[in-house]
Amino acid sequence: MNLPELQFYKERIEEALDSYLPSASCTPEIIHEAMRYSVCGGGKRLRGALVLIACEVAGGRWQDAMPAACALEMIHAYSLIHDDLPCMDDDELRRGKPTNHRVFGEAIALLAGDALLTQGIATMLNYIPAGLEQAYHRALQELVAASCTQGMIGGQVLDLAAEGKKLTLEELNQIYRWKTGALIRAALRMGALIGKGEPWVLEALTLYGEALGLAFQITDDLLDLEADPQLLGKMVGSDLRKQKATYPGLVGIDEAHRLAAEEINRACAALAPLAENGKVLIELAEAVLKRNY
Ligand code: IPE
Ligand code: IPE
Ligand code: MG
Ligand code: MG
Ligand code: MG
Repeated sequence: MNLPELQFYKERIEEALDSYLPSASCTPEIIHEAMRYSVCGGGKRLRGALVLIACEVAGGRWQDAMPAACALEMIHAYSLIHDDLPCMDDDELRRGKPTNHRVFGEAIALLAGDALLTQGIATMLNYIPAGLEQAYHRALQELVAASCTQGMIGGQVLDLAAEGKKLTLEELNQIYRWKTGALIRAALRMGALIGKGEPWVLEALTLYGEALGLAFQITDDLLDLEADPQLLGKMVGSDLRKQKATYPGLVGIDEAHRLAAEEINRACAALAPLAENGKVLIELAEAVLKRNY
């Protein structure tokens, strides 16, 4: 995903994450090392960038959304640490490095995930820019709802329950809407709320986020089959090994590509009311469709 705007926000997000996370030399060092191992130095920062871009599109300053962008990236990183655990997807590689539990052991990996969830919420509460207290309150409601049992966690529960089963497309969509879609949708809504966007802007960005989230997980499934593992930074074939319910498994590879493109078109169409203002988000959606990592 080589987009100049994404690169700009990625660098800013990485600086900010470093400043919001406890230093690795703080006691107990091991947990802070483990948190930093998974959060820093890797990842596309798509969700964080979406928060910042949505804030700007809504009429705000991207700097004001930085605590929210970092909170979301911390919660995303926690979801990845837990997703990779032996009791879940049992993966050995993440962001081009051994997974957290392979380096720190399962107990610390579990705790690092828990700590990142809490640290994310603390970041939302402790760095609110002046005058944005109410907007941050609403954005935090979005973040916790999207992270919880009718969001990311609910999706992960259904994903595990679906292993080895053949689902209907509607059942699979439900899993994707929750396990991946919820945090991506929340990214757009958090940014729009912090940018104090009008209700129609919030609505357009929400529809965009929903379609982008679904497309993002379909392309994740396709990359698990088709990507160069070196570039992807994860092992390929993980879904087949775990007999996961996936789009390519259900509808075939070609149809999965077609449906991902259809969702990207839907995402872009949702931005029509924003006219020129939606340009970066359209480019970003197109980059998601073409991504090779
Ligand atoms: C991977 O997300 C997990 C999914 C929800 C598909 P990303 O592909 O955004 O992971 P990073 O943050 O770039 O590592
Ligand atoms: C992960 O979906 C969704 C999460 C909430 C972490 P996957 O299990 O397909 O993500 P990867 O492929 O391991 O990154
Ligand atoms: Mg998983
Ligand atoms: Mg996984
Ligand atoms: Mg995957």
